[in-house]
Amino acid sequence: MRLHGVHTMQMFATDPDRFEHFSFEFGGLFMDLSKNHLDRDVLTSLVKLAQTTGVETWRDKMFSGEPVNGTERRAALHTALRNSDGPPFVVNGEDITASVRQGLEKMTGIVTRLRSHQWAGSTGKPVTDVLHIGIGGSILGPAAASRALARTGANHNPINVHYVSNVDAEAIFPILESLNPESTLITAVSKSFTTLETLTNAQTARDWLLESLPGGDIGQHLIGITAEPPSAIAFGIPEDNILTFWPWVGGRFSLWSTVGLPIALTIGMDAFHRLLEGARLMDRHFCDAPLDQNLPVLLALIGIWNTDFQDTGAHAILPYDERLAGLPQHLQQLEMESTGKSANRWGEMTPWHTAPIVFGMPGNDAQHTFFQALHQGTRTISADFIGCIRQDHPHDDHHDRLMANLFSQTEALMRGRTEVNNGNDIHHFCPGNRPSTTILLDAMEPETLGMLLALYEHKVFVQATIWGINPFDQWGVELGKELAQSILEQIESGNAVSDHDGSTNGLVNRFVKSRQKPDR
Ligand code: F6P
Repeated sequence: MRLHGVHTMQMFATDPDRFEHFSFEFGGLFMDLSKNHLDRDVLTSLVKLAQTTGVETWRDKMFSGEPVNGTERRAALHTALRNSDGPPFVVNGEDITASVRQGLEKMTGIVTRLRSHQWAGSTGKPVTDVLHIGIGGSILGPAAASRALARTGANHNPINVHYVSNVDAEAIFPILESLNPESTLITAVSKSFTTLETLTNAQTARDWLLESLPGGDIGQHLIGITAEPPSAIAFGIPEDNILTFWPWVGGRFSLWSTVGLPIALTIGMDAFHRLLEGARLMDRHFCDAPLDQNLPVLLALIGIWNTDFQDTGAHAILPYDERLAGLPQHLQQLEMESTGKSANRWGEMTPWHTAPIVFGMPGNDAQHTFFQALHQGTRTISADFIGCIRQDHPHDDHHDRLMANLFSQTEALMRGRTEVNNGNDIHHFCPGNRPSTTILLDAMEPETLGMLLALYEHKVFVQATIWGINPFDQWGVELGKELAQSILEQIESGNAVSDHDGSTNGLVNRFVKSRQKPDR
């Protein structure tokens, strides 16, 4: 209320050191919060909110392996995945540090064989292509990180990694048509090994291998990555080719585990360890830094401020770096699947808003698609602009233009254009005060990317703690899955349905009827 009617530009005028006061740095990450619509008193109150809602207590519980995922009664220990050199750490009678180390060792063996072309298919040809099949957390993080760091391993990356997630045949068949089965390895990645999309695609790929390599040992072309090894074995994947991970790793937090195989295939195992190290450093910072200097806590508080006190319903992720093109989707799942909840830990409906709509795409492309709504729409949309100071190419002319656009968009969103005289009419009016955070990476190094990804993981955790919700379950997704299964059975039976609502009955029956036409 106190800041109602106060323009962010005015706050820069009254606090000439505002940029310094609202800028924070850790490792290769620099974070500028000063273009958000708050002052230092508000930030102090927000830090108090984090204290009083028990952020530090919950953080410590998470790191010590307490069952912070209450509805599923289990720990959330993705942080243990980046601490395999740490001391023994026992959860439910298992030394998980040792298990993580063993998993990484097995993964190293696989990565080394594949990257050195020592992994031969059933006809003796070395594997040159890997098709990674998974969905949600089993693909988005690995794909985003691999893309971001592809140039890291470019000079010595002999393996082509392809990704498929959607159950639509239009996704997998064009890829299979482009591949040679003799030199292709399929990785089926599913924590549960029950996911419809992944199992359907894995079966299609397995059939493709069986048809193309008659009599061949197709086991040599299959790898499973799962927390349910018996199901992968039942599917036909040899035990030696199964990489495990654990129920205490949430899918959207799993890229640090063996699920990160495609990252390691792309950049090599040493660079994968550097990625883990970056995340570990961010974990330490999250645990050790005071709340008012703590990057994940501050980023979370800005999100809470915008969502619950500034009434922003949407949040844009805007990487000004093509290498981060996969980041918006990964963060969309991370944030919306984690905090898109209405019930709190005490079994009540939350009185405040939780996850905003997270969306995004790389700039400058985004400027020519949805930015108009950011500048002049009736609803305020907050944004994170993410750029990289040092580029990995010699083309300064491109990089300077890219970064000039990043900086100018944040300025335009905050400053607006309020003078409607001088030939400008109301249609030119831009209100300004549109909040944004800018995150600058020194360079796209594995450590820096690890820090960035862990920054967002902890941001989500802090927000969930303040909102009083569990960020590690996703019961809402299950409802759609259950209904899809029953409708699939009805479609396959070919009979008319009448047990749904009128719309769903009508749509299913129209589809089933048209499929039965003889000319199909
Ligand atoms: O979308 C729901 C979800 O359960 C995600 O949480 C998960 O990342 C994804 O499906 C894939 O699940 P799985 O790895 O078990 O196949």
